[in-house]
Amino acid sequence: MEEATILTMVKQAEKVNEFLKPFIIDEEKSAKIKAIFEQELELGLKHGLKGSSLQMENTYVMDLTNGKEEGQFLALDLGGTNFRVMLMEMHQGIIEKEQVEYYSVAEETRLGSGDKLFDFLAECIADFVHKNLEKGHPQMPLGFTFSFPIEQTGLNKGVLVSWTKSFNAAGVVGQDAVKLLNDAIERLRDLNVKVVAILNDTTGTLVKGYYDDKSTGIGLILGTGCNGAYLESAKKVVHWCGDRRDAKEVIIDPEFGAFGDNGCIDFVKTKVDRELDNDSLLPKSFTYEKYFAGKYLGELARLALVQLHQRGLFMSENDKEYKHFLEKDAFTAAMLPQTQVENAYIGEVLKQELNIQNATKDDWAILKHVCNILSQRCAILVAIPLSVFINRMDTKEHVAIAVTGSLYRFHPQLKDLLETHIRKIVPNRSFHTFLSDDGSGKGAGLVAAVAARLSH
Ligand code: GLC
Repeated sequence: MEEATILTMVKQAEKVNEFLKPFIIDEEKSAKIKAIFEQELELGLKHGLKGSSLQMENTYVMDLTNGKEEGQFLALDLGGTNFRVMLMEMHQGIIEKEQVEYYSVAEETRLGSGDKLFDFLAECIADFVHKNLEKGHPQMPLGFTFSFPIEQTGLNKGVLVSWTKSFNAAGVVGQDAVKLLNDAIERLRDLNVKVVAILNDTTGTLVKGYYDDKSTGIGLILGTGCNGAYLESAKKVVHWCGDRRDAKEVIIDPEFGAFGDNGCIDFVKTKVDRELDNDSLLPKSFTYEKYFAGKYLGELARLALVQLHQRGLFMSENDKEYKHFLEKDAFTAAMLPQTQVENAYIGEVLKQELNIQNATKDDWAILKHVCNILSQRCAILVAIPLSVFINRMDTKEHVAIAVTGSLYRFHPQLKDLLETHIRKIVPNRSFHTFLSDDGSGKGAGLVAAVAARLSH
């Protein structure tokens, strides 16, 4: 290769790296974010959302499975575009049978009126019950996974704080989602079902993780959105309505996707992050999750590549095909892991996913590099809260982190990256992450089963 060509390539690479620099979280930045997270966590435990961007909500789940759960339980899982209804049968604490039906939640239902949304949920339950349960069945206890921030005053009371991800149904914020669902169930008359617990998907994942592995102390969702629940010492929890019984630990839902909504870590924000937020369904909210969660990761990569193109650094001689990158969400988080492979294969991904036939080898390398940097940022930003939770669980010798979610499941390096970064932050603690299949669904059934056991 001629010297002049090499020089141009080096200069181009320098420019690309200069542009991507703000996305890099070095040790100093990571330590700063961690220190702020710890402060916000303490403030959240004391004052909730009034004092912190971390809600630190008491979930009132203070009992986990103990091997004595018996009977049939319904579980609902609402949080994404697919809604699930599930029937779980337990014998001596073991899930012996399960049946699931999926219902897709149309955009007009997610963004329409709250009453319509809850009527739709009740109709799906009715459809499921008619298909899967005998007529005249006894009243079915139901656990409701509602994967949004809620304020709880008990296990079966959850007032929606704000919608997140792809939901924005009118008239629900400020209302108790359990009441809305029970009312919709009653409107259908012939449904003998009662909501006994409402929970976040992270709570469900922790409970299901504990069912799989008794050293589980954290439930992480790393999918469309991101959040992680952990077991907190009950005496450190200020907000508690009703009887604490002799609770030693209780699950806390921090809603860490909203970390930074008060501006406390704005130094992390790049131009691309601001652009993504401005153009999102719910701007200026759920700042942290917008840095890396599945709903946003692909779009962040796309916006970064658009900026690089404008600087003549990506697909600069291929304007015609580059147009495929111009549409919002054209590049998705599901495509991102496919770039973490041999460079030559990236050409295939571009052809298949975006119909781009003529990208150059440099374009492939830049695409891979952008996705790599965003994956690293994702792993560090998720590792920070997890490390803080592990540190708080100082009486546990080993902390297992149960994970549910497509990003963790399908990204080939994310598990390793995540564990590497946690190890760097808490080098003296023992932990591992593991995929806990369907925590958000089965977890709801398990919480309902524990509630039923306690009420007998
Ligand atoms: C969003 C929701 C949160 C949920 C997470 C993962 O952050 O607000 O409640 O746990 O997504 O689904």
